[in-house]
Parts: sequence; structure tokens; C-alpha cells
Amino acid sequence: MENIKVLIPENVIKKRVAALGKSISEYYADERVYAVCILKGAAVFMTDLVRQMQGDVVMDFMTVSSYGNATESSGNIEVKTDVSFDCKDKNVLIVEDIIDTGNTLYYIKDLFEKRGAASVKICTLIDKPSRRQKDVNADWKGIDVPDTFIVGYGLDYAQKYRNIPFIGELEFTD
Ligand code: IMP
Ligand code: MG
Repeated sequence: MENIKVLIPENVIKKRVAALGKSISEYYADERVYAVCILKGAAVFMTDLVRQMQGDVVMDFMTVSSYGNATESSGNIEVKTDVSFDCKDKNVLIVEDIIDTGNTLYYIKDLFEKRGAASVKICTLIDKPSRRQKDVNADWKGIDVPDTFIVGYGLDYAQKYRNIPFIGELEFTD
């Protein structure tokens, strides 16, 4: 059996997302930014975040797979669905649900840089710094969490729990 313990309540997420949106908007000012949502995990965060941003924001989406096991990614990243714009000379903001080992974002950031983006920044809602395997950090981040498996607000366990409005710790009970 699985049990979910509230770790980050809805109102805390809401406040952090608003602050991130404001800070990101101030940074890009009147320059266009291409916000790239990493599906599926970041979908919920992305839609809330862009509504807290002012200015010229283009939304785009990317699906990557990492051939990990159920709770950890591997270093083998593959782009399954690519973005629909030419990122050359564009400001790319990667929007991710969580940075864990860093394998996924390390690969994606490098990919946009190689394609000639003018700038590549990262915004993650959740960070698990203690789990890092690759040297990659967020330019904007919402909340640090300890080394525990979390679900909700877009994050899943075997595709479940993405629709929960808060972030919770997944506990396995028998
Ligand atoms: P990384 O490549 O290890 O940084 O992992 C990034 C991806 O692993 C995230 O985009 C999530 O999809 C998934 N992931 C990592 N930790 C968790 C977690 O605690 N809950 C749900 N998904 C997670
Ligand atoms: Mg993800």
C-alpha cells in the first residue's frame, strides 16, 4: 500500500510560484523568453508559472526519457518529442519539476547550448541537492527537499498522483 504525507502544502507552492514568476519576468524584462516545459512532470508547474509571468513568453514542450528505474533516472537521455521552434539566438528557459541526480537537465541544457541558444536558464520547482551526480544547478528554484521520493503537483509514481494539488512524500506501507 502507498500512503502520501503532505510535505509542501498548496498555499506554499502557490507563493513560491508567484515569487519565481516575478523574479523571472524582471530578469528577462522586455526580451522574449521561450519557456520549455519538460513533460510530463513539469506540466502542472509550467501552467501555473507562466500565468505569474509578465512580458513576452512563448510556451513550448519537450518529452525526454531517461531509461531509469521507477524512482531514479539514468544518464542515458533521449529526446522523444522535441520543441517546435528553432532555438538559435533565443532565450531558452527550461522549466522542470525537480532536479534530482541532475542527469536529465545536464543533457538538455547542453543540447540547447549546442543548438546555439542565446541563453539557457533553468527553473525548477523542487531541488534535491543531496542527490546530485552531475554539476547542474537551477537559476531559479522553488523549494529544496531532502532525499525522499515525492509525488503530486505534476510529479508521479508510475504515472500516478500527478493530479494531487500539493506535494507529498510517498510512503510504502504493508
Ligand atoms: P534527474 O535526471 O535525476 O535529475 O531526475 C529528473 C527526473 O526524475 C524528474 O524530471 C522527475 O521526473 C524524476 N524524479 C526525480 N525525483 C523524483 C521524485 O522524488 N518524485 C517523482 N519524480 C522524480
Ligand atoms: Mg520530469
